[in-house]
Amino acid sequence: MKLAIGNDHVAVEMKKEIKAYLEDKGYEIIDVGTNQTDRFDYPISGYKVGKMVAGGEADLGICICGTGVGISLAANKVKGIRACVCSEPYTAKLSRQHNDSNILCFGARVVGVELAKMIVDAWLEASFLGERHQRRVDMIMEIERTQHLAAAEE
Ligand code: RB5
Repeated sequence: MKLAIGNDHVAVEMKKEIKAYLEDKGYEIIDVGTNQTDRFDYPISGYKVGKMVAGGEADLGICICGTGVGISLAANKVKGIRACVCSEPYTAKLSRQHNDSNILCFGARVVGVELAKMIVDAWLEASFLGERHQRRVDMIMEIERTQHLAAAEE
């Protein structure tokens, strides 16, 4: 599986740790983040990871900034992206199972490296459950596509 990973200046060390951890597990990592600790604007990495996932160059993506929030907002502006900020494994797992999240985000200032590994594992080991969840994800994508939600008019 190919994973795109991106980060800002706050998350350089965390990105390196998670990248090495996942490479050891056999994942192919496409690193579009920065390795510099000079200020680096997180929307650039969020956008790049979003484009790689939406375009099929990566199967899934991981985005890390200080809180995970800014980079998730940027990634979510790319059509087709469902990026979720997760600070513990339960939400990470459910974001795959129920929301079909395709980018995992977390904060290098919020979680430690060992917790981050558990979050990443929970997310990568889970898969979308479909059925009733598919209908709801379809609604989210309808809003993105049309800026309208037919079900809200009923
Ligand atoms: C950088 O100071 C910080 O704003 C960024 O890493 C992130 O937390 C934004 O959401």
